Amino acid sequence: MLPDVLTLPDGRRAVDPTTWREVFRPALLELLASHVYGHAPAAPAISAERLAGGELKHGTWEHWRITVWPGVKPLAVLLCLPRGVAAAPCYVGLNFLGNHSIVGANEVPQPSGISSRGATLQSDRGRAGYSWCVEGILKRGWGLCTAFYGELEPDTADGPALSRTWRDGGFAADAGAISAWAWLLSRLVDLLVRDRRVDASRLVSVGHSRLGKTALLATARDPRLAMVVANGSGSGGAGTFRETSPGAETLAQILSFTHWFHPRLGPDAQAVPVDMHQLLACIAPRPVLLTNAEDDDWADQCGQLRTLQAAAPAWRLLGSGATPPAAMPALGSGPDGKVLRYAYRVGPHCLCPADWSAIFAATAAELPG
Ligand code: GCU
Repeated sequence: MLPDVLTLPDGRRAVDPTTWREVFRPALLELLASHVYGHAPAAPAISAERLAGGELKHGTWEHWRITVWPGVKPLAVLLCLPRGVAAAPCYVGLNFLGNHSIVGANEVPQPSGISSRGATLQSDRGRAGYSWCVEGILKRGWGLCTAFYGELEPDTADGPALSRTWRDGGFAADAGAISAWAWLLSRLVDLLVRDRRVDASRLVSVGHSRLGKTALLATARDPRLAMVVANGSGSGGAGTFRETSPGAETLAQILSFTHWFHPRLGPDAQAVPVDMHQLLACIAPRPVLLTNAEDDDWADQCGQLRTLQAAAPAWRLLGSGATPPAAMPALGSGPDGKVLRYAYRVGPHCLCPADWSAIFAATAAELPG
């Protein structure tokens, strides 16, 4: 059984929106930090410079370099903006293969850094345009802001990189990689909120798989994100530790990625005082879209719907008319639910155009211009 989302482990209950905002949500974020993901510091103001740019069919691309922390090398950011829109809403998320994989123009640099597959590859140039549907995003008047996830926080068992730097600055050194990636996603938000060409009230975080877990955590922490899309996020994302479906990844299994989490996280789900419906609840009352694939049992497609349903009382407490789907939506039927949405498609574990069809429909409905 998942614990009641409106009750803290010490028995305190959230009874109204004020206690939710002032006591309950901060307490949940602290439990998630101290038992699952580790802490991340408030960020100093970033500095940013635009280094290159070019044309796309339905908009433009820009290569930015942002300094996110004193003494840490800059992060390369790709910003794509639609043509003819004064202030564009924007999708924001980290990518797996490098910015050059999304926009293949030679001036988009191949980032340094390490993913779970190793260094980025020149042969991936332009290869992930399909996953991100850049032209489809631009055609709808939206922008995309992204950075390579492994550039500053490598996805290797060698241990977290950013939290070591934070420790040198006097902060807690318990952050796993998901916490660091979520922190980096918020640095992209820092860049977007100061750009007048962007509608800062409509920033939607997007992530696939481990980066779906990252998008959920970033949105739980950062109220500037107006909505989250988590694709195939699975265990430690929208898949709970306590109630995994048969064939889905368990807490004991995901701990093979030790560097993703707080060093204290152990394999006994009942011993963890917080679970993933409480991660989702920290996003309330903002919209959530979970997208999943039929052939992706590992990500616990059915369990994720239960997580959404178990989180819903937080939205109701805040007066939102959120309604998650009552049952698994029909395959390919579009994003079911209101505010708490779920879309289910055929196929394997990946981010693909069918996911974007659901994302476009859900963002148009939840965040109309
Ligand atoms: C592994 C891991 C998942 C993760 C996925 C990914 O399958 O077990 O938890 O979501 O990698 O990020 O691709």
